[in-house]
Amino acid sequence: MNKCVITGLAFALCVNQLPAQTAPEPLNWTAAQDHQNMMDQLGIKALRPGPSGSTVPGTPNMANYDPDKANPYPDLPEILRLKNGQKVTTADAWWKQRRPEIVEDFEREVFGRIPKNVPKVTWTVTQTVNTQIGGIPVIGKQLVGHVDNSSYPAISVDIRMAVVVPANAKGPVPVLMMFSGGTLPGAAPAFGGFGGSGGRGASGPGRGFGAAAFSGALAGRGPGAGSGAAGRGPGPSGPPSTQQLVADGWGYASINPASIQADNGAGLTKGIIGLVNKGQARKPDDWGSLRAWAWGAARGLDYLETDPAIDAKHVGIEGVSRYGKAALVTMAFEPRFAIVLVGSSGEGGAKLHRRNFGEAVENLTGTGEYHWMAGNFLKYGASDATFGAKTAADIPVDSHELIALCAPRPTFISYGLPERGDANWLDHQGSYMATVSAGSVFRLLGVHDIGDKADYHVAKMPGVNVGMLDGELAWRQHDGGHEDQSNMKYFIAWADRELHHTPAPQSAAK
Ligand code: GCU
Repeated sequence: MNKCVITGLAFALCVNQLPAQTAPEPLNWTAAQDHQNMMDQLGIKALRPGPSGSTVPGTPNMANYDPDKANPYPDLPEILRLKNGQKVTTADAWWKQRRPEIVEDFEREVFGRIPKNVPKVTWTVTQTVNTQIGGIPVIGKQLVGHVDNSSYPAISVDIRMAVVVPANAKGPVPVLMMFSGGTLPGAAPAFGGFGGSGGRGASGPGRGFGAAAFSGALAGRGPGAGSGAAGRGPGPSGPPSTQQLVADGWGYASINPASIQADNGAGLTKGIIGLVNKGQARKPDDWGSLRAWAWGAARGLDYLETDPAIDAKHVGIEGVSRYGKAALVTMAFEPRFAIVLVGSSGEGGAKLHRRNFGEAVENLTGTGEYHWMAGNFLKYGASDATFGAKTAADIPVDSHELIALCAPRPTFISYGLPERGDANWLDHQGSYMATVSAGSVFRLLGVHDIGDKADYHVAKMPGVNVGMLDGELAWRQHDGGHEDQSNMKYFIAWADRELHHTPAPQSAAK
């Protein structure tokens, strides 16, 4: 018996001496279990179901597409008014008082906070190649950003990023960081399907949330990608974005979001969020995947700042669809990013939560998408909870303020055509109203907005292919689908003007 006790003690001692190795395994919950846990933490008994994205008339709980019913909460939180009621009339009051209020609301209620103790990332170049993109010689580096996981070795996070610059650049080049596969030109994609031949599915809830959605968002970006007809019509206009960038004398960085944080609720106890939480569930104001992807992009920028081939003061961020949301969140929270291209971002991105058109807050509080957001965001879809019920109208901030957090840095909001697959689900008009409203902050900070003088309540989206590109805030709906490649040539010309970058000589031959 004694022996038994001694054995038990010895084991206990051993456990104490090796805390890291004996820490519990990360929770292996399904998204539904994790979602239920967050509902329990918040005292939520029931959530309203998100509207269906089906456009077939008669579908139960169909999303609203009637413009007359689209504005149940027409008045947005006033961007330029402090919580104490005072108007904000100076840049100083914006930076010192109003902006911090908005940041706090977004962090606590919408996207979550980055914990204070996120471990360090160490970047290593694992491969360097000399190759060509569209006939232009480039140098590509494959990198891995290893996150120190000594505090919880059961989870490892290795951020995958590739950085490509024109080989004949005369000096440091501006770089567009893109949420995509994180691999070198010509390398096998890390996700099934992406980098294919221009086929983009429609954006809508009928689409999956895994590799299929990823391929939809990212098709056409690999240098091998063409613009062949697929899906709902012709592919994007213009060569692949990466080719257009290097032809103009830009570099690009491809950063892989899934290597930072999974795109599902089951992954919330793993990835960078799980590592910091030692495999346990989130608290209500912890970060969601969008904020985690944005954090990863900022770590990628840390590396770019150490690379002499790169003009790190002129690094942009780009993404499409859910990664368009991530690009906007990145720009809003990380002031070192100089410029942003927000592609077809929709609900959770540039679209107003308060609009009832297409995708709704309730879609972001269900099990399929809640992981993008802070747990607290679930409250706004609650129909029965200890606090009663809440709706979009109770969210203390809205997307016009997310866009405003980017000011005065150049911010390009891009969409495509619903008929080509950039579904009405995304609410282009609601995103336009948010963009118009955000203009007040750009003006206050001494730069130009998109130039629409209308009040946001009545502002009307301009026609397709009408660029509103004269200011630091820019808008263009292209005539392609659920992609931003069709806007890339407009983005590059606008970005060159904004960042005072002289296009490379070969771009004249484009
Ligand atoms: C779905 C989702 C959108 C998202 C899109 C995507 O359509 O409802 O919010 O942007 O997927 O990322 O492809």
